[in-house]
This record gives sequence, structure tokens and C-alpha cells, in this order.
Amino acid sequence: MEKELKTIGVLTSGGDAPGMNAAIRAVTRTAIARGLNVKGIKKGYNGLLNEEIIEMHPKDVSDIIQRGGTILGTARCKEFRTLEGQQKGAEICRKHGIDGIVVIGGDGSYRGAQMLARQGINTVGLPGTIDLDIACTDYTIGFDTAVNTAMQAIDKVKDTSSSHERCSIIEVMGRNAGYIALWCGVANGAEDILLPEKYDYNEQAIINNIIYSRKRGKIHHLIINAEGIGHSTSMARRIEAATGIETRATILGYMQRGGSPTCKDRYYASIMGAYAVDILLQGKTNRVVGYRHGEFVDYDIEEALNMQKSIDQYQFEVSKLL
Ligand code: ADP
Ligand code: F6P
Repeated sequence: MEKELKTIGVLTSGGDAPGMNAAIRAVTRTAIARGLNVKGIKKGYNGLLNEEIIEMHPKDVSDIIQRGGTILGTARCKEFRTLEGQQKGAEICRKHGIDGIVVIGGDGSYRGAQMLARQGINTVGLPGTIDLDIACTDYTIGFDTAVNTAMQAIDKVKDTSSSHERCSIIEVMGRNAGYIALWCGVANGAEDILLPEKYDYNEQAIINNIIYSRKRGKIHHLIINAEGIGHSTSMARRIEAATGIETRATILGYMQRGGSPTCKDRYYASIMGAYAVDILLQGKTNRVVGYRHGEFVDYDIEEALNMQKSIDQYQFEVSKLL
């Protein structure tokens, strides 16, 4: 042990994601196994500033690995974006004896962790978001569950859409990122996939594609639309008017963010939770954990936030081909 840590805090921040509980459990149990105390901070940075801090014992994380959501709750906190908020947060950590914090969340939450580190609190971020839009990692906690939930829902809509020979627009989550749409588009065999990063807003091309497919005898036409493009209902009305084919929009919404995590999300979140504790014990701070090229890795937060990630062009081309 290079750095004398006594107590580690853990919080979840930003949008929740299935697998966050597995990460909380792993942080708690690894830290306790290494001789540390653990404190759970409720409702993200809000809970920190409001001192909603609880002791965490091994039994407090029993029976949670299979549960969606986060037992600690999550929130967004404006005050933490200010220097005063960050100083107050660090002060509260010191008051509660917390010398290291594991922050489970997205890019925004990482910035918060970076600011806490600047105030002298050791921090490590874990990638918790269903959107897969964190550049330093090929995996984020919750994505696998979300795409499987969405894929199953889309299969169901596709069944009824085929029976009625309708066109279906299904809107999946992803305000700024099209990974859920791309994966479901391929996995559900969609005819069109609209990604915020790629869509050219050429609706006429979609209409032409629907008419062409129908002439070739296809009885359904599935369009996966990412939330970042949105307007699925009005798009359905326009497509129906232009093609004469009944068209329905289904917005999957928050169901994609809940539910019992997949094995992959439970497993990766567990390893990442343990990894976070162990790098804090190695004396590292201002780090984020990722999974890249087949292994768990960690980066400086600034370096991680400066990395870029975009939809892979080859995968996008293949999605159009299929
Ligand atoms: P996510 O972590 O999923 O990207 P947000 O962007 O909403 O979600 O960020 C979560 C929280 O992280 C914010 O509500 C805020 O408290 C904190 N945060 C975000 N950006 C900053 C920043 N630049 N400085 C300090 N805290 C930040
Ligand atoms: O968790 C990520 C995400 O699902 C985004 O795709 C979406 O834009 C956002 O959360 C919406 O979250 P909220 O409505 O809680 O702000």
C-alpha cells in the first residue's frame, strides 16, 4: 500500500445505468477486504453537499448485484459546478474522513471528480452510462443491458408491424450518441438506422427506400431512430402521408435504463469496482477506469476527457449493407 487510505466513499451520478449496483458492491467489498472503511454517498454530488452519507458494510450490498438502478440514488447537481460547491464537497469529505472517492457516472461526473481531486480528495471514475459515449473505454456499465432490453422490445414491435404490414419507427435512447441505435439497428435487422453522428436529414431517401422495399415484397419496414434525432411521431405522419403505408412510432424511453443487468454488465462493473479501489490504494488519483483492447486500464481524467470517439465508419457501412 503506497498511500495510507482509511476510508473510501462511493457515489453514482448523472443518468443511472444497470450494473451500477454491481460496481457499488465491488467497491464496498474490495475496500473492506483491503482493510478500509466505506461510506456511501447518496444522490451524487447533491448528496455529498447535503451530507447524505451512510456507512457501508458487506451486508448492505447483499442481494443488489441483480438489481437495476442504483441503491445510492443519483442526481444532477448545479452547485457542484461552482468552485464554492467543490470546496464545500471536499470539506465535507474531510469532515467524514473520506480520503478517496469512486465516482460512477459519465463524462460530466468525471469533471466533478476532477474538481474534487483538485481540492485534495483522491478520485477515480468508473464509466456508468447506457450510451457507450465515453471515449477512453470500449465498454460502459449499462450499455449491454440497455441494448438487450431495447433489442427484445424492438423484436416485439417488429412482430406486430409485420402482421399489419406497417412501417415502424422505433426511437431508442442516445441524446448525443448513436451506439444504442447502431447496435439495435444491426441486431434487429432494421431497414434504416438514423444516428445523430451520421444522419443527413434526407427523409426523401428513407421514403424512397420504403416504397422500393414494399415493391420488392417486404411486409415491414423498420427504422431505428436515435433520441438525438427524435421527432419520431411527426416523422411517422410524414412517411405515412408520402408512402400511403400505415406508419407507427414507438418511443422506448426509460425502460432502456432500467432492469436487471446482463451477466456482462454485472461482471465488468464488478471488476471495474475492484480495480478502482486498488488503484486508489496504489496512490493514484484523478483517474478513470476503462476497458480497452481486451483489458482493464486507467487514464488521467484530463487525458480521458480529451479523447475522441465516434461511430466506426466500417461498422456504419456494414449496418447499411445488411
Ligand atoms: P453524466 O455524468 O452522465 O455525464 P452530467 O453531465 O449530468 O451526467 O453530470 C453529472 C453531474 O456531474 C452534474 O450534475 C454535476 O454535478 C457534475 N458535473 C458535471 N460537469 C461538471 C463540471 N464541469 N464541474 C464540476 N462538476 C460537474
Ligand atoms: O443515460 C443516458 C441517457 O439515457 C441519454 O441517452 C439521454 O439523453 C439521457 O440519459 C436522458 O436522461 P434524463 O432524462 O434523466 O436527463
